[in-house]
Amino acid sequence: MIREIKNNKLYFDGCDTTALAEKYGTPLYVYSENDIIGRFEELRRDFIEKYPNTRVAYAAKAFFPLAMAKLVDQCGMCVDVVSGGELYTAIKAGFPAEKIEFNGNNKSRKELEMAIEYGIGRIIVDSLQELSIIEEICREKNKKARILFRVTPGVKSSSHDYIVTGKKDSKFGIPLDDEIVLPQVKAAIDSPYIDFYGIHFHVGSQLFDNGSHLQATDIILKLAGKIKENFGYDLKEINVGGGFGVTYVDEERKSYSYFLDPIMEKIDAYYAQLGVQRPNVVIEPGRSIAAEAGITLYTVGSIKEIPGIRTYMSVDGGMTDNIRPALYQAVYTGVLANKAEEEKTEVLTVCGKCCESGDILIHDLKVAKPEAGDIFAVFSTGAYGYTMASNYNKNPIPGVVFVKDGADRLVVKPQTYDDIMKNEIL
Ligand code: LLP
Repeated sequence: MIREIKNNKLYFDGCDTTALAEKYGTPLYVYSENDIIGRFEELRRDFIEKYPNTRVAYAAKAFFPLAMAKLVDQCGMCVDVVSGGELYTAIKAGFPAEKIEFNGNNKSRKELEMAIEYGIGRIIVDSLQELSIIEEICREKNKKARILFRVTPGVKSSSHDYIVTGKKDSKFGIPLDDEIVLPQVKAAIDSPYIDFYGIHFHVGSQLFDNGSHLQATDIILKLAGKIKENFGYDLKEINVGGGFGVTYVDEERKSYSYFLDPIMEKIDAYYAQLGVQRPNVVIEPGRSIAAEAGITLYTVGSIKEIPGIRTYMSVDGGMTDNIRPALYQAVYTGVLANKAEEEKTEVLTVCGKCCESGDILIHDLKVAKPEAGDIFAVFSTGAYGYTMASNYNKNPIPGVVFVKDGADRLVVKPQTYDDIMKNEIL
């Protein structure tokens, strides 16, 4: 068990969280290495080893300090980056360039130059405009870029509106109208600077139903048929994105097999009937790797009871280290880590310290009776927490500690006030 309660205290991957709070200060992001490794092992067993010619490209946007880049590489996975910054992090961590793929709807020329110079494995191209920039760069540098086109399959998926991406009205990807997508594919196939490799889609995030992935797979196979018919070209790779849902409170997390087996069945059947070798299949999980591996520790400060209304329990972080409740009305749960076995007699609202009424981390949570100085742990904060952190109100971004089998190591130092001001000029 990654999360345990011993002697009234919350333990995480064998470490006493109250001792971590004491040692490193709060707020603090804590990640279980065993949890991350375990997710990749599940993917290795149920996807990579079960189906030949498949790859996992971890979506760096979920959580990607240098130590995570190294761990992803050690676990034998590829990585999907979406900015020059993420790309630079991967390279700095020693990630093999050919195992990096680059997504994004508006990559700058400079970012594309970086990617081509490093010789990364794949660029997932979002438009014809991007394709021509890549061609120009490759012409100048006498290189060839391997690309996939990201398309918008035009499917609906049920998740928060801000994190669904597969519908046609989206800033991501190329619409699937024949007259739009086919000329782009032709331009890529014909270009001496481009190694056109396949098609990519991503339908949305935090999904518990495989319906939208399956619908999108059907649509992409239809496109594959048209590409073959028009240009005699067989796709070499299909990338079905990420989006696999996780448990924040009590949502029932589905296995990777639940999503991937029927996708693979569809793709295998399609190519078996054509008598053509199936293209590689790639997935890009982010949240499902990092979310449950992370918790955030806070120290409780002011406790304010408004009789007949509610009690606010303030912690020493908030929307600056976890914007998700304010941005997506995301729901979390947590526990007083130093009173983990005590009866939960109180119902209160956990709020942050930012000058913003919306800075509420958890509404109406049952907890043991809190006091200033208690340590409060929020669960499943590992994805899109640290990566979306900000310096609002000039709050420093917390540090990150990796824990494994009872040992802890700091992998990101907490910011200091001087760090925040480093680039300011007086
Ligand atoms: N691939 C592509 C092209 C993506 O756009 C995304 C997520 C992923 C993979 C990874 O999806 P995941 O497995 O993590 O669901 N900040 C939001 C989530 C934004 C997701 C954006 N794209 C949140 O905190 O919920």
